[in-house]
Amino acid sequence: MSNSDSQPGLVCGLEVGTAKVCAVIAQVDEHGEMNLLGFGRAPSNGIRKGMVVSVKETIASIESAVLEAENQADVKMDGVYVAISGEQIRSMNNSGVITVSRGESHLPANQEIAEDDISRVLDQAKAITLPTEREILHVLPQEFKIDQHDGIKDPLGHVGHRLEARVHLVTIVTSAAQNITRCVEAAGLWVEALVLAPLASAYAVLDETEKDQGVVLIDMGGGTTDIIVYYDGGVRHTAVIPYGGNRVTNDIAQILHTTFQRAEALKRDHGSAKFPANQDDEEITIEGIAGRPPQTTTRKGLSSIIEPRLEEILMLCRNEVRKSEVNDKLTFGVVLTGGGIMVQEVEEKAGEVFNSDTKIGKPAHIAGLENLMDSPEYATVTGLLLYGREYRERYGSPRHTTGLGQFFANLSGAIKDFFKELF
Ligand SMILES: Nc1ncnc2c1ncn2[C@@H]1O[C@H](COP(=O)(O)OP(=O)(O)OP(=O)(O)O)[C@@H](O)[C@H]1O
Ligand SMILES: [Mg+2]
Repeated sequence: MSNSDSQPGLVCGLEVGTAKVCAVIAQVDEHGEMNLLGFGRAPSNGIRKGMVVSVKETIASIESAVLEAENQADVKMDGVYVAISGEQIRSMNNSGVITVSRGESHLPANQEIAEDDISRVLDQAKAITLPTEREILHVLPQEFKIDQHDGIKDPLGHVGHRLEARVHLVTIVTSAAQNITRCVEAAGLWVEALVLAPLASAYAVLDETEKDQGVVLIDMGGGTTDIIVYYDGGVRHTAVIPYGGNRVTNDIAQILHTTFQRAEALKRDHGSAKFPANQDDEEITIEGIAGRPPQTTTRKGLSSIIEPRLEEILMLCRNEVRKSEVNDKLTFGVVLTGGGIMVQEVEEKAGEVFNSDTKIGKPAHIAGLENLMDSPEYATVTGLLLYGREYRERYGSPRHTTGLGQFFANLSGAIKDFFKELF
């Protein structure tokens, strides 16, 4: 078994979700082509609503998923890209302005914009007053404005006096990021980058046209539903709703007096987000619990439990999207992904709630391990591989650092480099 240190082309994505912990390993060749080598999945018992609630269980799930992927790939990983979500995420749009000058006040006003100016304006754009417990996770550039001209993607080499950067900032409670980082490290790995889960999913599911002309991606997991809105090629809004598919399963369990596991099976086998008008109903038998007699329900009865809860979560998503300044510009409507949307008629239901074009987004195909990851529940982990490949292109071989302090310390430089790559 070779070590990933001796094979720098190896990338590992790790999603520590509420329902599952999933690890994937891919090899990136010299042309940037990616090949999947290993896949591992373990039940997740230590995460609730995207946050670590049991360190011990989380470490065990990470170890199990990563070991399975390593054995299949016949490699040993050390650096991993880790998705993060949860209620501790906050985001906002911000802008920074600088006067373009070479530091000599007598020079004429208009100067050619240099890399240093771009770094300075991005520093301005992320210079917000944060509560002491928060850190910036991502600075995602949207556009630049030079004097009166806006919509500029790459200001380098333009001539101007006043340079403005508009960015989307994502912040996280430091301890939440530390908890997940420590679990990964206790499992014998280190975090190459923490990535906002819906940002990773967007890498796997959305294409550039959608991002340009406007789209919202909804990733409904077990414990959270993550939202990311794109317009004009940039991220305009992100949000995390602390409910996901587990809410739907809980409702089924409660109303039909059964266990979570049986409710989950009912949802998977017979669930639909609304009962199709042209379909005949069908009786479903539910095994009795602890010696109780079996009961019956119908597909229609089941969908009458699922529909209101899914609708509620989708309406919370819609309210978030309305907060974005681009709500009425989203040409490509809604893309749904994540395991939580894997019930029939979900596109129709989301179409009703959003009154827009809706489709299910499966992760982009990566060669190797045929069809194994061809499901919306693997959008985030697939996106981590694509994000990781881009990150490696930017930085070269991975830099081994431990501890979150180091991770955040690297961020400032990383933001600048990231920007340069983007445009
Ligand atoms: N085949 C299926 N049919 C219906 N629902 C499914 C299916 N597979 C998974 N789900 C639902 O998807 C949800 C889990 O989705 P996913 O695997 O994306 O969550 P996660 O990434 O672990 O969680 P989170 O992102 O919230 O931390 C559960 O609510 C589960 O019931
Ligand atoms: Mg998820």
